[in-house]
Amino acid sequence: HHDKLALPVGTTLDRFIMRKQEDFPYATGELSQLLRDIALAAKIVNREINRSGLIDIAGAYGNRNVQGEDQQKLDVIANIRFIRALRNGGEVCTIVSEEDEEMIQTGNVQGKYVVAIDPLDGSSNIDVNVSIGTIFSVYRRVSPTGGEGTEQDCLQTGTHQVAAGYVIYGSSTMLVYTTGNGVNGFTYEPSLGEFFLSHPHITSPKTGSIYSINEGLSNDFTEGVREFVAYCKQQNYSARYIGSLVADFHRNLLKGGIYMYPATLKAKKGKLRLMYECNALSFIVEQAGGKASDGQQRIMELQPQSLHERCPFFIGSTELVEKAEEFMAREF
Ligand code: AHG
Ligand code: MN
Ligand code: MN
Ligand code: MN
Repeated sequence: HHDKLALPVGTTLDRFIMRKQEDFPYATGELSQLLRDIALAAKIVNREINRSGLIDIAGAYGNRNVQGEDQQKLDVIANIRFIRALRNGGEVCTIVSEEDEEMIQTGNVQGKYVVAIDPLDGSSNIDVNVSIGTIFSVYRRVSPTGGEGTEQDCLQTGTHQVAAGYVIYGSSTMLVYTTGNGVNGFTYEPSLGEFFLSHPHITSPKTGSIYSINEGLSNDFTEGVREFVAYCKQQNYSARYIGSLVADFHRNLLKGGIYMYPATLKAKKGKLRLMYECNALSFIVEQAGGKASDGQQRIMELQPQSLHERCPFFIGSTELVEKAEEFMAREF
């Protein structure tokens, strides 16, 4: 197996990426470079988040994005930083971002990769100093190099991801990602400007006693979802909901638990976006031994029809996701 020599905690991200690349004799280093480009943007965005109260980048930007949401200044800043890092890195031909309606062509027509990104997740928490994040998903383009990326390059099922990860800007800043051989977590040391391996080979508990859902929407939930939430209460599980998907997901990944954003009467397909929220976290949770479904089927097998489409989202410990699916199956 690739991890014959598990790397010691404390290894830098750069060394880790280089070591992993040696395991792939045919790797030409482009994906490694792409991951370094993402880590660079994360360091820059981290610094801007940490000082957002001091310089005038808090608050709303005064625009609405394609989601109909009021863009926050940091939404826009993070978007610019990640697009610039990926453009300058040269490996990515096309980007799908939550903050841009159309695909973004980077000009790197020889780039072999497409990236879907949520540059800043949990925007409602930015100005109140609660953890927020970045979520990204990487595909190999299917169209020939030499031209712009196409919609087909972007609208691939989650099973085709070559990498996925997130940054959580929390009490410490971490980068957690997978390239299909397990999940590893790196903690940022700002005084050195380096990410260090702190959570090697993350595996998620098969079950857990935390459930995360916005119960303010309960009147809109289907019967099966309400029944499952009642079940969690009968089991005396803990309710934990931060309102930042990355923060809720990261806690449940490490401790065990389930995060749910179901369809509601108002939002027929839920709120979360398949391309740059659900597929990315689904790849990670499956690599960590967990499960991700839309209530009926595996998230990573959903065929995207449009760049910003939403899907109901149930993700976390396998036994809890399966229990939720059982309750929902009864409603049909
Ligand atoms: P984003 O800030 O990238 O638009 O995502 C917000 C998402 C997710 O982070 C969070 O879990 C969810 O919205 C919270 O939604 P509610 O406020 O409806 O609970
Ligand atoms: Mn948003
Ligand atoms: Mn988001
Ligand atoms: Mn966002």
